[in-house]
Amino acid sequence: MKENILVIGSSGQIGSELTLALRNIYGNDNVFATDIRESSKEITQSGPFHLLDVLDEKRLIHFVIRYKITQIYLLAAVLSGNAEKLPLQAWDINMKSLMNILDLSREVGIKKIFWPSSIAVFGITTPRVNTPQLTIMEPNTVYGISKLAGERWCEYYNNKYNLDIRSIRYPGLISYKTEAGGGTTDYAVEIFYSAIEKKSYECFLKPDTTLPMMFMPDAIRGTTELMEAEKSKIKVKSSYNLSGISFNPEELSNEIKKFIPEFKITYNPDFRQKIADSWPQSIDDSVAKNEWGWKSEYDLNKMTDIMLKEIKKKFESKV
Ligand code: SER
Repeated sequence: MKENILVIGSSGQIGSELTLALRNIYGNDNVFATDIRESSKEITQSGPFHLLDVLDEKRLIHFVIRYKITQIYLLAAVLSGNAEKLPLQAWDINMKSLMNILDLSREVGIKKIFWPSSIAVFGITTPRVNTPQLTIMEPNTVYGISKLAGERWCEYYNNKYNLDIRSIRYPGLISYKTEAGGGTTDYAVEIFYSAIEKKSYECFLKPDTTLPMMFMPDAIRGTTELMEAEKSKIKVKSSYNLSGISFNPEELSNEIKKFIPEFKITYNPDFRQKIADSWPQSIDDSVAKNEWGWKSEYDLNKMTDIMLKEIKKKFESKV
């Protein structure tokens, strides 16, 4: 059967790349990119793009019926750092968008839904090294609380209404196409731009703050593989742990120095240090490996090499 896929948040860090990957799999015309702001030319020129607000329930349901949508990817969210600045608004946006999609999907019979969770669902009482799939979860950030509540709702709709909702607890995502915004792991993207532009970077986390990270191509492949996997393999109805590369700012800056020897890093931790200190250092993803065959491909060196080359190209094309 022909799939019609709705991507909500196609202008964001994940959406700008996942939309193109989905168009490769399902055909350009069958992947409807939407966002509250304009997406990149790559997206608006390769297939349908519409301005759409996921909080506007009426327009959303009209859209889904009009374009005979069969799958939804909900990628719109307020990230951890920004959420701490406006807690209630962030809670409202993150939860309302998910509940709108879950309920609409139940009503119209959407076949498959993807919703991203995060390592932010864990907290200071969670074992921080090789954090298991199933463990203590007491997040103390608004973002983490909204993601944990969301996971519970996904499992609830999966069990109660037999909705096929699939999810990944993304680590910090590193990419060169679209910058994130307002996240705690964002330093690991900013550092590359600053390294090329200024040969220096002032980091908002301490040098030894190890966090789980992942290069975007791994995250995109993981997402499409999860969504393509046979339903019987997907036993976790909340969200899967996925691991990529764990490193701290000092290790990342040492890697960058291998390519840019004059690069200098300084440290000026801000409020995001506390958020980072409550998150795991590394993730055990054996459940995802065993159930649907997940495997990450990129290491720190390979990722750093590609990030620097691609961001350099971006700066050169602007000149
Ligand atoms: N990268 C996100 C953030 O830092 C975590 O999911 O907010």
